[in-house]
Amino acid sequence: MVGRDARMARLRALREQSLIGGGPERIERQHAQGKLTARERLELLLDPGSLIELDAFVLHRAGEFGLDERRIPGDGVVTGHGTIDGRLVFVFSQDFTVFGGSLSEAHAEKICKVMDLATRTGAPIIGLNDSGGARIQEGVASLGGYAEIFLRNTLASGVVPQLSVIMGPCAGGAVYSPAITDVTIMVQGTSYMFVTGPDVVRAVTHEQVDRERLGGATTHTETSGVAHLAAPDEATALDLARQVLGFLPQNNLGTPPRRATSDPSDRREPSLDLIVPDEPTRAYDMKAVIHAIVDDRAFLELQPAWAANIITGFAHLGGWSVGIVAQQPTVLAGALDIDASVKAARFVRFCDAFNVPIVTLVDVPGFLPGVAQEHGGIIRHGAKLLYAYCEATVPKVTVITRKAYGGAYDVMSSKHIRGDVNLAWPTAEIAVMGVEGAVNIIFRDRIARAADQDAERAILVREYEERFAHPYVAAARGYVDDVIEPSETRPRLIRSIEMLAGKRERNPARKHGNIPL
Ligand code: HXC
Repeated sequence: MVGRDARMARLRALREQSLIGGGPERIERQHAQGKLTARERLELLLDPGSLIELDAFVLHRAGEFGLDERRIPGDGVVTGHGTIDGRLVFVFSQDFTVFGGSLSEAHAEKICKVMDLATRTGAPIIGLNDSGGARIQEGVASLGGYAEIFLRNTLASGVVPQLSVIMGPCAGGAVYSPAITDVTIMVQGTSYMFVTGPDVVRAVTHEQVDRERLGGATTHTETSGVAHLAAPDEATALDLARQVLGFLPQNNLGTPPRRATSDPSDRREPSLDLIVPDEPTRAYDMKAVIHAIVDDRAFLELQPAWAANIITGFAHLGGWSVGIVAQQPTVLAGALDIDASVKAARFVRFCDAFNVPIVTLVDVPGFLPGVAQEHGGIIRHGAKLLYAYCEATVPKVTVITRKAYGGAYDVMSSKHIRGDVNLAWPTAEIAVMGVEGAVNIIFRDRIARAADQDAERAILVREYEERFAHPYVAAARGYVDDVIEPSETRPRLIRSIEMLAGKRERNPARKHGNIPL
């Protein structure tokens, strides 16, 4: 009979083995690369001491090719639950010191268990990824494990927030789990994501590329749009994950936590009265507008360096969590192109899924013209943003600061697609197209006949501006609810968000819509 002391000793020994994962040497190697261990990362991510670990004694299947003697309790991933700002979250953190964090069948089962618990209890799930991919020795069982995770990512989408932090390699099909999650954060210099690595690329396309350029944090936050945020180090990446969660509810049935603020709700911002230049072609920085309006000037921008002609991110207004979508006139004059449409569409759906009101700041000259855009499918991609705004049932508050031209006027949370409160600054111009373009088309004959064509055009432009280049035609029809002084924007937005707090709206029952993907 095994005595109590021996049983306790066995427990402690196994626990110890599980805690040190692949052992001191491999931990040392991890640290030498500027990387923390799976557990150290969880300590930074979660409230201190809040982690409750599950499945620390899970082992990979016996009989696996060449791995029988090295069965390490926990099998390369730490899973469990803890809290962030006192709110329950589920986590998994891959341990690169154990077989390179590679995903075995048992490793996948551990991740699936916490994902199932997250959806069952309605709590966010955060994955810290650092893995050599499918455990090669396990073959199809590990591929099956990935598929089980992808299925759960998909079923949890729009039910609980899912965040991915990439803290090492993430390659092959493994990238598709983060890709399905709501937000992906990468660590600069030590993390990368690609479907096929540099060697395969070289063999197939003869392109010479290194890991960093193919799939590093800069590539994915500036060029591909795969990741939302890049952090200079692991601690910052984990802090960003905590910050993102602070704007979101626990699940789709909840509302985001309201945050106390000392920033007065009735604060006027006189600088906004001067921000829009008189010349319609001169740019101004929409981020300055956002910072001036939101609580404590604090704005968490997502995807800041990709499709920068549109701005997306979270802030608080009067303590209410809001998602902000805004044109950036300093980049491509704020025109909507393919990437901007895709970026904003996904963000609008993210907010809508998690009951975060959407504030839209509009200064859009239209969709970007050009062969590349048309051939690239701007029709298909632009439709995503239109669709996303149309289907969104969260409170939608819109402010037109300057241009709202053409189809882009309709798209950007207009009254016609269920904008709840639509405001305009006196500088707003709502029209089918810009003044010059409009005059050249509708008065082509008259201009051609004129003795002094430039003088005639100037007169017509002035007339057209007086008739159409302002917000009052739209206001006369109720398409904008009010024209406000820019300095009053913050108080008006907060009053609108408060008024809409109890909004209830449902779309017709259906299996799902068919968004033009
Ligand atoms: C089993 C693996 C492994 C894997 C790494 N290891 N990847 N073991 N399966 N996929 C082990 C190594 O043998 C080594 O064991 C330890 O992890 C650390 O790996 P190193 O190579 O020493 O580390 P490093 O030099 O930092 O290189 C990391 C790496 C490299 C770039 C990730 O290990 C690598 O290329 N691994 C293979 C990647 C891969 O092709 N995976 C399959 C992708 S396809 P020891 O005992 O020496 O410490 C895929 C499909 C997913 O994942 C499909 C989903 C549908």
